Amino acid sequence: MVHNGIIENYMEIKEFLVSQGVRFRSETDTEVVAQLLAYYYGKTGDMMSAVYRVLDRIEGAYALGILSADMPDSFIAARKDAPLLLGYGEGCSFIASDVTAIIKHTRDISYMEDGEVALVKAGAITVFDALGRQMEKEHSFVDWDVSAAEKGGYAHFMFKEIMEQPEAVRKTISPRIKEGRVAFEELKLEPDYIRGLKKIFIVACGSSYHVGVVGKYNLERLLRRPVDVMLASEFRYADPLVDEDTLVIVISQSGETLDTMAALRMAKSLGARILSIVNVVGSSIARESDDVLYTWAGPEIAVATTKAYSTQLVLLNMLGLYFGDLMGSVSPAEYSDIVWELLDLPAKMERVLENTEEIKYLASRYFNHNSIFFIGRHLDYALGLEGSLKLKEISYIHCEAYASGELKHGTISLIENGTLVVALCTYAPLFEKSLSNIVEVKARGADIVALTTNSRSRELSKTVENILSIPDTHMLLQPSLGVVPLQLFAYYVALHRGCDIDKPRNLAKSVTVE
Ligand code: F6R
Repeated sequence: MVHNGIIENYMEIKEFLVSQGVRFRSETDTEVVAQLLAYYYGKTGDMMSAVYRVLDRIEGAYALGILSADMPDSFIAARKDAPLLLGYGEGCSFIASDVTAIIKHTRDISYMEDGEVALVKAGAITVFDALGRQMEKEHSFVDWDVSAAEKGGYAHFMFKEIMEQPEAVRKTISPRIKEGRVAFEELKLEPDYIRGLKKIFIVACGSSYHVGVVGKYNLERLLRRPVDVMLASEFRYADPLVDEDTLVIVISQSGETLDTMAALRMAKSLGARILSIVNVVGSSIARESDDVLYTWAGPEIAVATTKAYSTQLVLLNMLGLYFGDLMGSVSPAEYSDIVWELLDLPAKMERVLENTEEIKYLASRYFNHNSIFFIGRHLDYALGLEGSLKLKEISYIHCEAYASGELKHGTISLIENGTLVVALCTYAPLFEKSLSNIVEVKARGADIVALTTNSRSRELSKTVENILSIPDTHMLLQPSLGVVPLQLFAYYVALHRGCDIDKPRNLAKSVTVE
């Protein structure tokens, strides 16, 4: 048995099986399912009905693949609250949690729903509903390019995906800008509903949440309405103030993150409309949302997200522009300015990617630090959250992101001679404030790596020796350029430390457990 997920009542089932004389060989919840199946199979002599009895009894989240020596030409698949898809090949069949695992073999797939059970044979799949009735499954065609899921000469998927960002961002933006206006033809939300919105919640996990933090700042500025951002794992237990007048924007690359999915369902049950920003077409979050905006990042294989983050970010900013225009809260001049800069972003990203020497040098100089702080204000704080997560997850260095204004409230006590501080100073309105924070930490002996825009780098060089400089763009879009050197810094540091960059320890690409 292959099991993805968690069986919540496994202890109780285990006790029952032990009382029936079953001997266990491991401590896993997965073995409990396998032993329970063996138990019912022994009683019924029929594997399919034994599977249904097991599904009736187990609680939790699971995607199961079941093989039995008594069924040598087939296997059984079942799911609840964990992704599972079926792949139809020529003379062969597949089950997988994620489409990227099988696109090399087939792009003809179906998504299994909760309670369904599939009997899978080479070249033939029969699906049954929760009551055991045979049913027809809708097929989806995955149009991702197969080569997009291969390394194509790069040492790591992460590096390849960093390099693919200009193209991914271009593909996400350009079909949605027509004659200088943001056009979301796929949106079903009525203009009157958008104008009447009282509140927006952005809900997500990890890096997708960090996109939401940028979104909070930018959407509040563009819409002049309250926008809240919350981690999905907190939102679902926080009894949040959500009702019919609230729009919940759910962000997820995989479209399968369990906490995000649970938050979506809860918000929906409270009457909110759900608009999701998702990368994987047809994924669970996409299917359960009222509206979906797809990021056209293509398959992302490296566990640490890069191009999905970047495409989510531009899409959320475009949404802010679109809503702000309908609400009349964004001036025509600022609107055109942002649209113009959005169109220019891919070319500017390419320029950042062409200038990596300084990043490589700084990574070689600082890769053996044990603790690194990212500081910044406003959008630079949001950017710091992502830069710090990227670095810690792939290099295993302890990193923290702090809002610079908070330093004095505790963190500054950690700064001593040689502590590395990555100071983010790309948000123009607060440049001077950020500069004074740099002076503060420098005075305590910190080594500084500063990230700023080309227009400010000369001024900053009077105070800081190590400067990474990115092209200027509209201030609300600056994180889209700022994140690229931070991704590369994390990548090169992890490379120096010999880490498993694409598959960092203890992490999974889709987090389908709580
Ligand atoms: C970090 C990273 C994770 C994901 C998070 C949410 O590099 O990839 O923090 O952002 O697990 O995943 P999705 O976006 O698939 O919901």
